[in-house]
Amino acid sequence: MQRATIATIHEFEGQEVELAGWQFNRRGSKKICFMQVRDGSGFMQCVLSRDAVDDELFDRVRKLPLESSIKVRGTVCADGRSKRGFELQVSDVEIVSEAEAEYPIGKKEHGPEFLMNNRHLWLRSRRQHVVLRVRHTIVRAIRDYFDDNGFLLMDSPILTGNACEGTSTLFETPYFGETAYLSQSGQLYQEAGAMAFGKTYCFGPTFRAEKSSTRRHLTEFWMVEPEVAFADNDANMDLAEDFLCHVVQRVLEEHADDLEKVLERDLTALKKVQKPFPRISYCEAVEHVAKIREAMTDPKDREHMELEWGSDFGSRHETELTKQYDRPIMVYDYPYAVKAFYMKRNEADPRLARCVDVLAPEGYGEIIGGGQREDNLDVLLAAIDKHELDPADFGWFNDLRRYGSVPHSGFGLGLERTVAWVCGLHHVRETIPFARTMDRLRP
Ligand code: 4AD
Ligand code: MG
Repeated sequence: MQRATIATIHEFEGQEVELAGWQFNRRGSKKICFMQVRDGSGFMQCVLSRDAVDDELFDRVRKLPLESSIKVRGTVCADGRSKRGFELQVSDVEIVSEAEAEYPIGKKEHGPEFLMNNRHLWLRSRRQHVVLRVRHTIVRAIRDYFDDNGFLLMDSPILTGNACEGTSTLFETPYFGETAYLSQSGQLYQEAGAMAFGKTYCFGPTFRAEKSSTRRHLTEFWMVEPEVAFADNDANMDLAEDFLCHVVQRVLEEHADDLEKVLERDLTALKKVQKPFPRISYCEAVEHVAKIREAMTDPKDREHMELEWGSDFGSRHETELTKQYDRPIMVYDYPYAVKAFYMKRNEADPRLARCVDVLAPEGYGEIIGGGQREDNLDVLLAAIDKHELDPADFGWFNDLRRYGSVPHSGFGLGLERTVAWVCGLHHVRETIPFARTMDRLRP
């Protein structure tokens, strides 16, 4: 008998097929059993009546513990009432492995801690199917965008000898008598790539020993990092905006139904993700924040919204700021002093760095960070000194300024924050198969 998958079941109408999967739910009576089956590709109802099989098998199936693995055979029938539009009229069931009684994830509400402890099983739920499929689509859309626009995929190493994003969030590991660090960002290597190939990107896991457990922070997350030679920060913002529109558009094309029905995501907000995104300088943003603060009545809120010129935004500031707009915003030219050592100092106003953060709407905050890179060797050396980094670690990086330095720019998009925003999830922990946070290394 031919093996079908639930995702392609419409191709088999009227035919006899076999599905291989798991029974995730069931209801019925002494005469008929409605089995809810999932096979990894989808979810579908399979209807078994007592007449179709012998009594012994019917009674076993009727009492089969949830998540038992099975093969079901039968005829694919159109059924207007079911979500798929089809159901299987079952003629035979083969029990591959009877699950233990009491599947841990029951019908009652479970807290996030319980679900994360059972992540290996929670992955089987309908909601996780949507979230992780959207993640996959976003990964494909990201790769397609750069592959179709002349970028070379150039993977950055994960074991590195120096910090990229400050020394406070480094994971260390012994390395044959030396200390190696898990990469916080592949950017520095992409800068070498851009000088060799013009436009490159890397897309891989990055690591930060973040000592904060917020809904936006993971210790291991995926980042895509394009880098472009002969590009200033304005060109960088053009790229970020075009790229993000492409990604969101692709998700809307492929997942509108799932997002709306399973995750109850408001699609109108996503449909507004169109060019151009508002471009707001840090100085303007500080003024906006001050105005928002003035309009607040609760003294606690006002306190949280305090912001002095020169300090970086906290997530509250970002959240309130983005609420003023219906699409992502690009905040550029932050104070030089609060940014990483490699940032291009603004020649017109040296208090500022030529960088950009893209803040997602609906309170999601920063999803992209990037900017123009310092291409002047002397300014860069001074920055390395100021940040108390060891110049010996950056010899190779500085070489890029010695041999044919050019203005160049790039950015990093955090995959999990992007998935959380697109799916409308409160926390990033559901957007990666097995989340790593300060308090979680297992499963
Ligand atoms: O702003 P960040 O730190 O920028 C960089 O690492 C640059 N070197 C990138 C570049 O220019 N090539 O990080 C970039 C993005 C953030 O905007 C955020 O989306 C994500 O990476 N990110 C995190 N995501 C989850 N958990 C964390 N702890 C994250 N830290 C950063
Ligand atoms: Mg950042």
